[in-house]
Amino acid sequence: MTLTPPGTPGQHHPSRTLPLPAAHPGGRSATVCRFRCGDACSQPVPNTSDNEYFGDLLRASLSRRAALAGSVAAVVLGSVTREVVQAPSAAAAKKHGGRSGRPFAFAPIEPVPATVDAVTVPRGFTWTTILSWGDPILPGAPDFDFDNQTPEAQAGQFGYNNDFLALLRFWGSDDALLVANHEYTNENLMFRGWTTPARASLDELRIAMMAHGMSVVAVSRRGSGDPWSARRFSPFNRRITAATPFRVDGPAAGSDLLRTSADPSGRVVLGTLNNCSGGVTPWGTVLSGEENFNQYFAVPEPPADDKVAAGYKRYGITDKSGRHWFRADPRFDTANEPNEPHRFGWVVEVDPFDPKAPPRKHTALGRFKHEAANIAIARDRRVAVYMGDDERFDYLYKFVSRRTFRRGASWFARRHNMSLLEAGDLYVAKFSGEPSPDFDGDGRWLALTKDGESVVPGMTTEEVLVWTRLAADAVGATKMDRPEDVEPSPRTGKVYLACTNNTARTPAQVDAANPRAVNKDGHVIEITEKGGDAAARTFSWKILIVCGDPADPSTYFSGFDKSEVSPISCPDNVAFDLAGNLWIATDGQPESLGVDDALLAVPVRGKERGHTQQFLAVPTGAETCGPVVDFDDRTALVAVQHPGDVPGASPDAPKSLFPYDGTGQPRPSVIQVHRTDGRAFLPRG
Ligand code: FEO
Ligand code: CA
Ligand code: CA
Repeated sequence: MTLTPPGTPGQHHPSRTLPLPAAHPGGRSATVCRFRCGDACSQPVPNTSDNEYFGDLLRASLSRRAALAGSVAAVVLGSVTREVVQAPSAAAAKKHGGRSGRPFAFAPIEPVPATVDAVTVPRGFTWTTILSWGDPILPGAPDFDFDNQTPEAQAGQFGYNNDFLALLRFWGSDDALLVANHEYTNENLMFRGWTTPARASLDELRIAMMAHGMSVVAVSRRGSGDPWSARRFSPFNRRITAATPFRVDGPAAGSDLLRTSADPSGRVVLGTLNNCSGGVTPWGTVLSGEENFNQYFAVPEPPADDKVAAGYKRYGITDKSGRHWFRADPRFDTANEPNEPHRFGWVVEVDPFDPKAPPRKHTALGRFKHEAANIAIARDRRVAVYMGDDERFDYLYKFVSRRTFRRGASWFARRHNMSLLEAGDLYVAKFSGEPSPDFDGDGRWLALTKDGESVVPGMTTEEVLVWTRLAADAVGATKMDRPEDVEPSPRTGKVYLACTNNTARTPAQVDAANPRAVNKDGHVIEITEKGGDAAARTFSWKILIVCGDPADPSTYFSGFDKSEVSPISCPDNVAFDLAGNLWIATDGQPESLGVDDALLAVPVRGKERGHTQQFLAVPTGAETCGPVVDFDDRTALVAVQHPGDVPGASPDAPKSLFPYDGTGQPRPSVIQVHRTDGRAFLPRG
């Protein structure tokens, strides 16, 4: 049976002149802003340092209008999946399918209007759900029951708003561990009758706390290309929440700035918050970034200590009542515990293979709004960790370990490697270069700590690590357009940084590495470390994509013919497939382009470099997260975050029913996309 769900385009081709809907100042809906980042885009820019901007506004040359042709071939509505499968038009099939040596064995889909509540995949693919918010994963946890939620149930169930995903294989088997971040909660969609944080019940506050954090879930499949299914009970299954004890390590562990009445040692923190993206280490653990942690703290009065007050301001810890969590747990009231916010904003490391091991917070990597953390091994086998601070006009960082990576799977090697992120040097990026149509330049890594000690005048080592933003201001780092995921290519070592957007950048603030004022669509920068060495102190860089509707003359796709590329806006998570192509998940296309968020793939080498092609669209109100495209070349995992979070949505008036499971409510979920014909999404040979 072929049905057309409400809001789908039917046979309509999305207009190539994409509409610009009314939006919140940062370009997204008000509820998304409030819950995710504490309304960051409505607040003053926290970086008031006078680091210079340089360069003049760049104008990319006018280019031909893109014209991807396609058609919506079929809509399938079932108990498990509601998907739109797009078949290419004859012209598109010729254009994308007739090319020899083409990088992908799929025909790109058309952008999908932002009102469409469906997962859209190319012809020949389908999708199924692996895990949804509320699925029980620990013994004793009840089945999901939207109208009978409790904190205890949620503590044993898959959390809300899955973002980063990692899939870690048990050697030589079709069993694996799926690790997911649960970035934040949408109380407006979780609880009937919810109005404001001030009116939230204590149970609602506690459920939200238990819905944050991370999950580890055992998954298995019959063989390559077969779908994964989650195992409800496994000794590896684990929930990490806002109450899970973490061990603090590195130079700031035990610092006065981290001590509280509940933890006079300054070494044990309860919980992890706003875990956005992350990375998998070469030794098989998972890193996760604590991002917009500021919003959870109530600041009834600015702190008495001037340094602490300056730190609060620079990190946006300014809301008088926050999310009202202080009513459920007094440590979230800074009048009680002025140091509690210093215990968040770190990179955390979790060993999914050791469910009893306490997760750790690595102070050596600095404290900011960590988006993600991804590792490259340097020439001398030290490890470099690349990290973005996702705030308008904030910075790109790199940590280089003091000790070196040991190869091998032995227990001794792994234990050694687990210590690598405890000591080393922290750097922040300064980009330079003259504005040019080639969008390139060079840059330096400016030291904040050297041999583990502060090199910032007037700041102690622990101050540099706790107030890393202030340290980076002092050395003159380059103010970027919201650095999101940053990841080195496992093929080439080149590093790719997604700058998602920054509509607050004025023409006078444009520079070579941030080449557009009012940058609503973002850009992706490719960084080449000097000599290809991840520990290098200098680098060159080149912009891979200046994002947007390719009809917009300010866009740039590494010179690739703009008539053949898909629109892309607000790049967020990046990942590599087995062939070294870059996959980019977006967050914000409904507001910037009027289309659902997407997963796109783009070759970064050869004559196809820049040939950006859309693989998937997520349902209305959702952002695309956590793609895993390197496990094999037959399955892609995608985290669908905040489905149905559009203005006016509520449990009594849901705007999405994803994952279409009969519960009548949208549920953030991890899905897998695979071919119906068992083939790969990369061409063979
Ligand atoms: Fe949670 Fe930077 O996005
Ligand atoms: Ca993100
Ligand atoms: Ca990534």
